[in-house]
Amino acid sequence: MRLLVLGTGGMANTHAEHFSAIPGVELVGAVDVDPARAMAFAERHGIARTFADLQQALAWGEFDAATNVTPDRVHHPTTLALLAAGKHVLCEKPLAESFAKADEMADAAERSGLVTMVNLTYRNVAPLQKARELVLSGTIGLVRHIEASYLQSWLVSRAWGDWTTESQWLWRLSTRHGSNGVLGDVGIHILDFAAYGSGSEVEAIYARMKAFDKAPGNRIGEYELDANDSFAMTAEFSNGALGVIHASRWATGHLNELRLRMHGDRGALEVIHTPEGSSLRGCIGEDVENARWREIDAGQVPTNYERFVAAVREGRPVEPGFRHAADLQKVLDLAIEAETARRELAV
Ligand SMILES: NC(=O)c1ccc[n+]([C@@H]2O[C@H](COP(=O)([O-])OP(=O)(O)OC[C@H]3O[C@@H](n4cnc5c(N)ncnc54)[C@H](O)[C@@H]3O)[C@@H](O)[C@H]2O)c1
Repeated sequence: MRLLVLGTGGMANTHAEHFSAIPGVELVGAVDVDPARAMAFAERHGIARTFADLQQALAWGEFDAATNVTPDRVHHPTTLALLAAGKHVLCEKPLAESFAKADEMADAAERSGLVTMVNLTYRNVAPLQKARELVLSGTIGLVRHIEASYLQSWLVSRAWGDWTTESQWLWRLSTRHGSNGVLGDVGIHILDFAAYGSGSEVEAIYARMKAFDKAPGNRIGEYELDANDSFAMTAEFSNGALGVIHASRWATGHLNELRLRMHGDRGALEVIHTPEGSSLRGCIGEDVENARWREIDAGQVPTNYERFVAAVREGRPVEPGFRHAADLQKVLDLAIEAETARRELAV
């Protein structure tokens, strides 16, 4: 499979490393509007060709699939162009900045018959897959209460770089640069983590969010720092459970931690994922009496990159697809609406 990498910033390195490790996948081209960045990236990953925009790459055309690792607001026009040219697409999350655009992308994907997938990275977490399996097989009974959080601290630490000077962090802080803040950036991950893990859908939400003051006039150069940094949501799930879902970039002490706790009438499960690794614990059966938790072995699961390549080879659909990502985007749009309306909204 000949793969084009579109956008060669921070996350594209993870894509290049994963895809090039899959036998039979060849990285044939790299595209970035910053030619120096594209060239350095191509050299680092042994890619023969670079292009200054997608149109040039499409005019050349010698690739089967593309991985779209551009900033959020660029996903929509570029993915539609790739699909129109008959290329399979793995697109980064969020699919777009609004449900309307994400829906248009899902429609185009369905019409095309091509393989399309959204990179909800945490589907790669084996304990999440195992937890879902246990919930769906009834191991913890009826799920009543769900608690999901995504904690980052890049606004209070330099572990990932300096957000005050680096464009990859600054565009994430600005709505005019197409960001829906922490809600759009990692809210989509934790919504998926909670819904997929519990084998359920979010049916109604209430949400509050906040952008904190962080620079004089809340502006750095061309970036107005108005996108939310923290959000808190209450959610009603289709399985009847009530839940809280929240995320922050101000979560001092946590570089990148996702946690999902699910409490049922016969047991409970807890999934934790951090850069150091992931774990699954359960309190099930007799253990419920004295609240004793035990580690559960979750084994291993294939990555999204591996599953995308397998789907392209076999010519079949793969999840999480664009329709699922568009459905999640609808919840994100509603959260923004709920912040203004200050009331619960149904999905
Ligand atoms: N799945 C995950 O866990 C995960 C993690 C990090 C980032 N992401 C997503 O990946 C995407 C990229 O994030 P990043 O951190 O790499 O950002 P980044 O700013 O580091 O990189 C984006 C790159 O795209 C380039 N670009 C912009 N417009 C372009 C265009 N029209 N054509 C070609 N290239 C263009 C930029 O010059 C830049 O080099 C975002 O959508 C982000 O949400 C996902």
